[in-house]
Amino acid sequence: MNGTNFLVLVSIMVIGSQAWNELKILRKRLPDAILIGAKKSGTRALLTFISTHPNVSAANPEIHFFDKYYHLGIDWYRSQMPFASENQIVIEKTPKYLVDPKVAQRVYNMNKNVKLIVILRNPISRAISEFVQTQWKQKRNIFDVEEQAKRFTRMLYQNQRGNSTIRKNWSVIRNGIYVKHIKNWLKYFPLESFVFINGDNLVKNPHEEMKKLQQFLNLEPIISESDFVITKQKKGFPCIRVRADSDRIKCLNDQKGRPHPKINPSVMQDLDIFYKPFNKEFFELINQKPFW
Ligand code: A3P
Repeated sequence: MNGTNFLVLVSIMVIGSQAWNELKILRKRLPDAILIGAKKSGTRALLTFISTHPNVSAANPEIHFFDKYYHLGIDWYRSQMPFASENQIVIEKTPKYLVDPKVAQRVYNMNKNVKLIVILRNPISRAISEFVQTQWKQKRNIFDVEEQAKRFTRMLYQNQRGNSTIRKNWSVIRNGIYVKHIKNWLKYFPLESFVFINGDNLVKNPHEEMKKLQQFLNLEPIISESDFVITKQKKGFPCIRVRADSDRIKCLNDQKGRPHPKINPSVMQDLDIFYKPFNKEFFELINQKPFW
């Protein structure tokens, strides 16, 4: 072996052992924080934004372990987690967790110190957003917003002895009764285990909500106002600069921000009256000023 070959061999061995060491410190761990909901409140945007933090490693798909795949066991859950280094926190998001009554106790049994992230949006726009998503999934009248508005209204009411009342067991409506779902979680976790992010403000002032989240997760607050970009192509929604590659801007896909049907004002008023006491009780329970 001549001198040059020897040097090449030594370099390969050094680089190889460094890479091996790095690989060894990246491990799959159970999550330190879980984004539990609420569905259609900006959960994907929040996860996308916090994933740009160098000290975060987040699972991209929704795992659904505690609601759907619990029978597969905790090792399966761990295997679904992303690789993370010792100085990263691991996050997963499954918005169904907030509303499924089995989940809180199961999460508690895994780790009673886990951090719980909740993002909430005005339950009326949340309900319309969920309804629109269902229509798209069923490929039903997706471009006919007037027909959608009629269908929403038909599905919203039930007739009881000649009186029309809101069908509160319709999942689209029930999912937005936040106080009911959080009360169940509070049977297992103290209020300090939760952070409540304002989903409407995440669109308007994303840096404010990210500041709150980074603080809650004990992360250095490096995601700031200058990291957000608003473009017309993305319907006025904020996109985020990717820190590791500052030329790249990450936006959500076009399935977010679908057009909402214009619901009749009297129906909107009924929804407002319906949700008002639940919203009031919710914000009193979490001891915060109303978000909307
Ligand atoms: P609409 O599609 O009804 O507008 P989720 O990710 O939990 O399913 O929430 C979807 C909602 O996220 C969208 O509802 C949209 O309003 C909201 N959202 C918040 N921030 C966003 C962003 N930066 N880009 C796209 N959508 C965002």
